[in-house]
Amino acid sequence: MDKIIIRGGKRLSGTVPVSGAKNAALTLLPCALLTDEPVTLRNLPRLADIDGFQHLLNQFGISTSIAGARPEDFGRVMTLQATRLTSTVAPYDLVRKMRASILVLGPLLARAGEATVSLPGGCAIGNRPIDLHLKALEAIGAHIEMAAGYVRAIAPDGGLPGGRYSFPVVSVGATENALMAAVLARGKSTLHNAAREPEIVDLCNMLVAMGAQIEGIGTSDITIHGVDRLHGATYMVMPDRIEAGSYACAAAITGGEVTLAGARMEDMEATVQALRDAGVHVEPAKNGIHVAADGPLRPVTLSTAPYPGFATDMQAQLMAMLCLAKGSSVLTETIFENRYMHVPELNRMGAHIETKGRTAVVHGVQKLTGAEVMATDLRASMSLVIAGLAAEGETQVHRLYHLDRGYERLEEKFALLGADVERVGGD
Ligand code: UD1
Repeated sequence: MDKIIIRGGKRLSGTVPVSGAKNAALTLLPCALLTDEPVTLRNLPRLADIDGFQHLLNQFGISTSIAGARPEDFGRVMTLQATRLTSTVAPYDLVRKMRASILVLGPLLARAGEATVSLPGGCAIGNRPIDLHLKALEAIGAHIEMAAGYVRAIAPDGGLPGGRYSFPVVSVGATENALMAAVLARGKSTLHNAAREPEIVDLCNMLVAMGAQIEGIGTSDITIHGVDRLHGATYMVMPDRIEAGSYACAAAITGGEVTLAGARMEDMEATVQALRDAGVHVEPAKNGIHVAADGPLRPVTLSTAPYPGFATDMQAQLMAMLCLAKGSSVLTETIFENRYMHVPELNRMGAHIETKGRTAVVHGVQKLTGAEVMATDLRASMSLVIAGLAAEGETQVHRLYHLDRGYERLEEKFALLGADVERVGGD
């Protein structure tokens, strides 16, 4: 297995292109199930998760073709066409590798009247149930059955009637599934306390481009008027706000200055605020965001929260940066119960972080030192890379497949910024 070697201490500077958003792509891809016409997605990141999702869609009889795959290109263009579905079953071995597979449940149900998807099970960052996905689908008229580790959703004859659902907890995935099911329902659906993440807005915009009728886009009350059919569309995946935020933290911890080309300030205000609170200069730039750190980093206190709050997906990277702040930061994780797996690894690099339940106190230290580390999830792995960039000596990050799930060509992007980051084989 590959690993990444980081020789720390280089100040990052330059421009890094921000890729298409993984989490937007993972909900835009299953939209292809909703129509028999071609759907083209531009700016699709080259990531293991996207390849996995493509494979899953192929299982249902969707044809996929890729353009713009020159080795030097970031991103690519994929055209998907679900002329006829040959299966409505998402099997265990694919779903277990990628939780986002559950996002085929709503669109398969809407298009084919039934869907059978393996229960995803737990993952490293917590229990991650899918009860809200199922309750929302039930509310818009699906009948749900569970058997042998699979969930089966069935629409009544003539299609889903539509309905009303109020989410007790904000859920990105459940909102996405409900939206993709409701667009082809016979009647109106309303979703209350829906997630407002920019990726949800991207999904709604894509569905509208395909002919869906949706009101309240970007708010927590969404109304969907079901239509008889959707048509094909060409859509550009939004820029990845988490990738952009990760590179911002990387720049800041090295006292560097980078431009995040293509990043959208309006999608990442909470991250921008956290960086500014830490004393980092963050300003809109032509076609992106400019990040510069000159003085010492200041400690920050914040809690993760659904959008527009501070994203749980940025918590680990910000924590890594705050390891070198002058003073103690307090971070509280409110979304997932087990999202501090980077803490012991950061401490092995000389950080001083104490956790108690959902709260982590990050006591700033003078320096970090390189070590061999590994993490069990994507963002935690990135936090170790960020720490490694500022650490004295060499850091080796193992289990690179986590990073390959969510960061397009990471070492090439860091090379653009002058970092010494190398991918080597063997683990
Ligand atoms: C998505 C993102 C993930 C991000 C998360 C929160 C994708 C592919 N993944 O995950 O990167 O960290 O949003 O911003 O877009 N919950 C339930 N029952 C459910 C569903 C969720 O209790 O049926 C709980 C979860 O355990 C969690 C909270 O709701 O505590 C939010 O989870 P959710 O927003 O659903 O996360 P995902 O969609 O899985």
